Amino acid sequence: MCFAIAIVAIFEIQLCMSDISRQSFPKGFVFGTASSSFQYEGAVKEDGRGPSVWDTFSHSHGKISDNSTADVAVDQYHRYEEDIQLMNDIGMDAYRFSISWSRIFPEGSGKINQAGIDHYNKLINALLAKGIQPYVTLYHWDLPQSLEDKYKGWLSPLIIVADIYKQNYKANSLWLYIVPHGIRSTMNYIKQKYGNPLTIITENGMDDPNDPRISITDALKDEKRIRYHSDYLINLLGSIIEDGCNVKGYFVWSLLDNWEWQAGYTSRFGLYFIDYKDNLKRYPKHSAEWFEKILKSTG
Ligand SMILES: *[C@@H]1O[C@H](CO)[C@@H](O)[C@H](O)[C@H]1NC(C)=O
Repeated sequence: MCFAIAIVAIFEIQLCMSDISRQSFPKGFVFGTASSSFQYEGAVKEDGRGPSVWDTFSHSHGKISDNSTADVAVDQYHRYEEDIQLMNDIGMDAYRFSISWSRIFPEGSGKINQAGIDHYNKLINALLAKGIQPYVTLYHWDLPQSLEDKYKGWLSPLIIVADIYKQNYKANSLWLYIVPHGIRSTMNYIKQKYGNPLTIITENGMDDPNDPRISITDALKDEKRIRYHSDYLINLLGSIIEDGCNVKGYFVWSLLDNWEWQAGYTSRFGLYFIDYKDNLKRYPKHSAEWFEKILKSTG
């Protein structure tokens, strides 16, 4: 009896997961992945970049759970072309990234660092060349250190935020806290409260622990992440099609495993696995293949 029920349950999950495709969503709905400069770029001392508060914080001993820094992170500063190809491989329409303030203004304000501007121009041009729309976040926590020095007090709220994050971090990582129908009620709340504005989900995702004991092959088997995005997308679709919510896009956090603030490299959020022991090689997880299937489906 139990056995039969289990089979039915598995069948239903697979049915749901294969039901969804790009064609289920209104025309023009945008699928993308999201990232942030400090968590991805590395190259923290290159081309005139100034330090940010997160450089200082991550270099103070005992603040980051694996004692790591984001000095290299996943090296997207140098590997953006390869990463854009990965987005293209799975049929993503857009990429949300943030601009590192201290690359543009190494001192926080005043003199512009042309090399920083050039970098983001190259990144944007490379995205456009592959037909991927850039979505730019102007600020994603990496405040220039010189502004912190000049206007004392930014760092203390930062530490408080980081501590709250640390406390909540473990709780948020549990499957129990994943509530896919919550996205549908949230979209309906926004619709009712604010007169149905254009809404984009700028990041949604889940992490796996970085467990050095498991093989890469096993780490790529992220069926739980597939289930996660499938459940959220089905609920989001319900809010659009059945409830009339004006939702125009969904960005997965994140394209790659990356440096997760106080959790360092202990947490893996990517559709692509990063081999931190072998030159940051990128491998598609099953969830990347699942997105490719739904995004490239033609019927
Ligand atoms: C990080 O550093 C602290 C303090 O030196 C040490 O107690 C801890 O074991 C280190 N953690 C890791 C994961 O290396």
